[in-house]
Amino acid sequence: MSKIITLPGLIDTHVHLREPGATQKEDFQTGTKAAIAGGFTQVLDMPNNPIATINPEALSSKKKLAEGRVYCDIGFHFGASESSVQYFPQVAEQVFGLKVYMNQTTGDLLMSDDQVLEKVFSSWPKEKVLMVHAEGETLEKAISLAKRFGNKQSLRSGDLKLHVCHVSLKREIELIKAAKAEGMKISCEVACHHLFLKDTDVERLGSYGMMKPPLESKEDQEVLWQAVIDGTIDIVASDHAPHTREEKMGEKPMFGVPGLETTLPLLLTAVNDGRLSLDRLIELTHTNPKRIFSLPEQENTFVEVDPAIRYTLNAERLFTKCGWTPFNGMEVTGRVKKVVLREQLVYDGQNIFGPYGKVI
Ligand code: NCD
Ligand code: ZN
Repeated sequence: MSKIITLPGLIDTHVHLREPGATQKEDFQTGTKAAIAGGFTQVLDMPNNPIATINPEALSSKKKLAEGRVYCDIGFHFGASESSVQYFPQVAEQVFGLKVYMNQTTGDLLMSDDQVLEKVFSSWPKEKVLMVHAEGETLEKAISLAKRFGNKQSLRSGDLKLHVCHVSLKREIELIKAAKAEGMKISCEVACHHLFLKDTDVERLGSYGMMKPPLESKEDQEVLWQAVIDGTIDIVASDHAPHTREEKMGEKPMFGVPGLETTLPLLLTAVNDGRLSLDRLIELTHTNPKRIFSLPEQENTFVEVDPAIRYTLNAERLFTKCGWTPFNGMEVTGRVKKVVLREQLVYDGQNIFGPYGKVI
């Protein structure tokens, strides 16, 4: 009999549950079932839907759609655009962060006009997180904007809460390390695909290995792991970005991979291999996301895992609607056995019960 470990309900601050507008890929029900099966009891959904979450109407209709249909708790991020700046004061209290897309990716929210970016950075309330999708050089620009518009009165750096999504490059880690050393309020997240896959896997995976930012070199990956251990990286998020098999296999494959159900087994495997401590796993997936995004407490909520079970990740056993994973066939050690949300059993290792989730 192997020992069962109890973890707090995990928090994923970066998911794309695709509702409204792209429910062929995922919806609030399937996406939050996937979250629960993966040990996540709180998720924050991104704004890059076909009709983007960039005005109060889109935000409230998204919230209404989620109401009564979610298996875990869900909160939302607002999208930055030229037209959405006017709504910042009105919506800030209803969301957990602002997402600023500074590189091209799925959706229609790329921001390339410097003047608009300056407006966004200077207008978003300082007590709320401003998240950037900023790859490589673009991250230099994001950091310099955060420094310039950190504080309206004094232009002192660090008063704006900058959060860097899905770091993947050695260069990005160096920039974030330097900014942290200067005392900037900066945090960052890494996605499991960048920790467990690299550029050499793309040949084998085809478009299932294609996401933004792309898989990088072994050297970059080693730097990411060091940053996970030394605390430069604050959060592991899934960047759960499902697309249908057809969308991945078409002429112009879409970027993004699902991750809600594979993140915890992969991290537990790293714990089993002695690459990561269990304390650090809890910081990266619960304590830090909760603190950085000021998330509410979930009473009597926990996850039981068997850290010693060895098995093969199997795309056929997933709750995500997309039905595939880039980790299909990978051997992992550590399985979610039970999830309890506010005293309710919501997962018994096989079946999901509910929906008992709340819109937060
Ligand atoms: C995401 C998606 O499909 O919504 N794709 C991705 O490759 N990560 C968007 C994003 O987070 O960049
Ligand atoms: Zn994303």
